[in-house]
Amino acid sequence: MKTIVYERYGNPDVLQIKDLETPVIKSNEVLIKVRACSVNPIDWKIRKGFLPGRLLLGLFKPRMRILGFDMAGIVESIGKDVSLFSDGDEVFCGTMGGSYAEYVAIPETAAITLKPANMTFEEAAAVPLAAVTALQALRNKANIRNGHQVLVHGASGGVGTFGVQIAKALGGEVTGVTSTHNLELVASLGATKVIDYTKEDFATNDQTYDIVFDAVGKSSFYHYKSSLTQNGVYVTATPRISDAIPIICTSMGTGKKSKTLLTNANSDDLIFIRDLVETGQLRSIIDKRYEYNQIVQAHQYAEKEHSKGKVIIAF
Ligand SMILES: NC(=O)c1ccc[n+]([C@@H]2O[C@H](COP(=O)([O-])OP(=O)(O)OC[C@H]3O[C@@H](n4cnc5c(N)ncnc54)[C@H](OP(=O)(O)O)[C@@H]3O)[C@@H](O)[C@H]2O)c1
Repeated sequence: MKTIVYERYGNPDVLQIKDLETPVIKSNEVLIKVRACSVNPIDWKIRKGFLPGRLLLGLFKPRMRILGFDMAGIVESIGKDVSLFSDGDEVFCGTMGGSYAEYVAIPETAAITLKPANMTFEEAAAVPLAAVTALQALRNKANIRNGHQVLVHGASGGVGTFGVQIAKALGGEVTGVTSTHNLELVASLGATKVIDYTKEDFATNDQTYDIVFDAVGKSSFYHYKSSLTQNGVYVTATPRISDAIPIICTSMGTGKKSKTLLTNANSDDLIFIRDLVETGQLRSIIDKRYEYNQIVQAHQYAEKEHSKGKVIIAF
């Protein structure tokens, strides 16, 4: 099977196409023919050899040779104990790496479920990691409620485009922060107000929010804290060690809280998201689509961190 592998940390050109053996499934696994997967920042951060990743995934060379944390495809075959899926099912999944490949074996109880009926494989492949991140940040960590004022910083990125829509679907009134060329897109996703960060600093306009969702990781907690209401929650998927002391001091002196998310992809949350998609409350924004043999260009583009929605790899 065609697979995108890398044997050493480095620039995008360490990614190579290789023919590897198709995985042999265990009795509890399904074999998926991948139609599309997405590029997430975690892919290029691991590929570059960022330090926390190296400690877990190999100090000098990567132990995880195949990147990719989500995908959509067709069930090709099932293990003898599998009861939840059948051959031919169209699914979307979150993985713990390994989705940059033509075939992936995954336990039936992992983060896998039928893909939304009204999405293409490429649209569905955009969803798992980014949308589950937004959902878990807003619902699980920030406890979003009807009428909450929500600020989404990085509203035009993979996580942010889902964040704006999910916050709205869960009852929030959303302000999105993005740059000039993405203002219209963010408003079209349901933000009632959009702030152009190239012209205005949201932290100095005296507006406060019940929830501030940092979906980009470009500012310190110190920058966000004046935008929180007295009991407001700041939630981030990109924590900084340097924020630890300001966060502790703020939580002792006020009701403002800070929460950090490590996304835990699971089938229940994929089903929740599928319902939002099928009821017209959530859609994927696809910025660019590459064939699998253009993976180097795909990573070069994604790591500039100005994607408008998601970058997709088609197999
Ligand atoms: N902890 C976890 O489990 C987890 C899971 C998923 C993601 N994450 C992290 O979450 C972050 C976002 O992921 P993503 O997939 O959304 O990334 P992404 O798609 O690469 O984000 C790109 C977006 O960021 C915006 N952006 C760049 N600089 C900005 C700035 N200074 N102010 C406001 N927006 C800015 C860009 O908008 P403009 O072009 O308008 O600047 C662009 O639309 C990443 O750091 C990722 O590693 C963490």
